[in-house]
Amino acid sequence: MPVEKNISLKPYNTFGIDVKAKYLLNIDSTENLREALTDDYLKHQDRLILGGGSNILFTRDVDGLVLLNRISGIEIVRQDDQRVWVRAGAGETWHDLVMWSIEQGLGGMENLSLIPGSVGAGPMQNIGAYGVELKDSFYELEALQLDTMDIRKFSAADCKFGYRESVFKHELKNRFFIIHVTFCLSRNPQLNTSYGAIAQELQHMGITVPGVRDVSNAVINIRRSKLPDPKVLGNAGSFFKNPEVDQQVFDQLKAAHPNVVGYPTIPGKVKLAAGWLIEQCGWKGKVVGHTGSHKDQALVLVNYGEATGKEIYELALKIRDSVIEKFGVRIDPEVNVY
Ligand code: EPU
Repeated sequence: MPVEKNISLKPYNTFGIDVKAKYLLNIDSTENLREALTDDYLKHQDRLILGGGSNILFTRDVDGLVLLNRISGIEIVRQDDQRVWVRAGAGETWHDLVMWSIEQGLGGMENLSLIPGSVGAGPMQNIGAYGVELKDSFYELEALQLDTMDIRKFSAADCKFGYRESVFKHELKNRFFIIHVTFCLSRNPQLNTSYGAIAQELQHMGITVPGVRDVSNAVINIRRSKLPDPKVLGNAGSFFKNPEVDQQVFDQLKAAHPNVVGYPTIPGKVKLAAGWLIEQCGWKGKVVGHTGSHKDQALVLVNYGEATGKEIYELALKIRDSVIEKFGVRIDPEVNVY
């Protein structure tokens, strides 16, 4: 196994943080993974599994083994008149899979175009955008249990998907290595253009009867106009989750701040736009050392080139404190802080 030693993780995280890993190994098959887990020396190392590195903030070196998930392949495993089941290697790039599904004329993933990261990282936090979440097209996943090396299948219910949540972020954290993910896509998709900006963008594009490709293009245009490209400016998308509060709390906030942005979720609960809260605290576009909150989307923290993870994390804590102070609402990171 070609193990790399004392290597910079800068190319492996979209924040572009320059920390080092003691060991790094590309995993491109289950056999390869089993070999790494049983290796006399490597099996004693602490492990960190990385996909696209698009949802992690490194605040320190990794004193152990980084397993880079590079398991590839996209195949149709079953189909009927209406649906097509597609199984993808967890190391595939998420956007490549979305583009593949659009090439095939299959619907279900178009609203999730251009989300950075890998296929395997998708279910970890139930990625979502523009009114759609991964769980809506998810069928099952296969993962290797790191301590027993058995392969286990997880249905959507087993994954316990929530808003940017799954069992893999909680009780099963660091216990499984996701190998393949299977999606159930549609030949005659019901397009979801309910998210305001999509309908507006389609109109702007002059499209009246959209197909999956049009919705994907609209999403790509919106993302490009609002969200910084990690290849140009290091970032990990939204740093915080949008907090959910009781209706009563929302009503009080609305009385004090009539422009507060919130969306009802389940009865009695309202999800607040964290970007709005952060902007109101004066952070939007503010540069603090080598980091800051992005000028077009306050929820995105960026690395202007030389930031350390600690510096970004300190800024995140300051932002969180100021939101608590002004609104009495706590915002929690969506990004994994290592
Ligand atoms: N807003 C502001 N100021 C800002 C940003 C947002 O006032 O700086 C307000 C605006 O009123 C806007 C509303 O917040 O209408 C919602 O903003 P946006 O549509 O940009 O969505 P978001 O809630 O900030 C979420 C996801 C994004 C996803 C978009 C679109 C979370 C944490 N983030 O952001 O996901 O792309 O919706 O669906 O749920 C990610 O998870 O990394 C991510 C980028």
